[in-house]
Amino acid sequence: MAETAALARRRTAAAEADIRDFSFDDRDFARVSRLIHQRAGIHLSAHKRDMVYSRLARRVRALGLAHFRDYLDALEADHGPEWEAFVNALTTNLTSFFRESHHFDELVRHLRQLDTDRITIWCSAASTGEEPYSIAIAACEAFDTLTPPVRILATDIDTNVLRTAASGVYALDRIAGLSEQRKRAYFQRGNGPNAELCRVRPALQSLVTFRQLNLLDVSYGLRGGFQAVFCRNVMIYFDKPTQYAVLSRMAPLLAPGGLLFAGHSESFAHAQDLVVPCGRTVYRAARPGPAR
Ligand SMILES: C[S@@+](CC[C@H](N)C(=O)[O-])C[C@H]1O[C@@H](n2cnc3c(N)ncnc32)[C@H](O)[C@@H]1O
Repeated sequence: MAETAALARRRTAAAEADIRDFSFDDRDFARVSRLIHQRAGIHLSAHKRDMVYSRLARRVRALGLAHFRDYLDALEADHGPEWEAFVNALTTNLTSFFRESHHFDELVRHLRQLDTDRITIWCSAASTGEEPYSIAIAACEAFDTLTPPVRILATDIDTNVLRTAASGVYALDRIAGLSEQRKRAYFQRGNGPNAELCRVRPALQSLVTFRQLNLLDVSYGLRGGFQAVFCRNVMIYFDKPTQYAVLSRMAPLLAPGGLLFAGHSESFAHAQDLVVPCGRTVYRAARPGPAR
């Protein structure tokens, strides 16, 4: 019987954890945890230890170093490009098209009642692009056109996933859950050696701009006035003070009446002076930003 992809992944992870060519002790793990928390806000729980080892051991090997501590010393001593590889290795990028689909129904309702011909939406943890392209599809459906008056800014800290996202190319099984109508309207199927791939149609792709942005940055350099901000399934990696700091920068970027979408297990009850609930894991700014 064919092995499922999930089983194959678990087998590979287990094999990687077993073949340890570098020692990796509690101090190394604590150092990694401190560094990624400082850089990206990500809290690594103890059960991630094997995953951290297998992902970073590749970097230690690639750089020809003998010990994990040499890698961490080099990282701390330098502000160069290895930080990008370090962060990319430690992010979790799980996502899918129309994940938590009720948010997209809510978005369509919201877009249809807006009285403006210039709508901007920020997708702040875009991962490999399924979320911002789902937003783009929802915008097309809200206005019944492939050229809605909507622009989507899609950002993430991880430069690898942003490359995938910008390419707009996916394995066919990534869109298996979409209706035939959506598949036809918004994707092109590959052929020949690309028969198992699909590509987001250029009209949809042109609605989305990708760029790197770290939610920990003290200033995002964004103009604001967003009618919707998607910040889903990223705050779960942050502790409460970090979540609060992110929300204090994000909330003023919402247009009056703009919606903030959070992930299914994320609650911002501790930040009610910044955002107030207005639906299932949907929030509005407690003090709306200026109209733009
Ligand atoms: C689990 S994915 C969620 C993707 C998508 N929002 C969804 O809900 O399907 C979390 C994403 O947050 C990104 N991320 C983690 N820390 C970040 C930070 N400090 N700034 C921006 N993005 C971050 C990761 O790179 C990853 O792509």
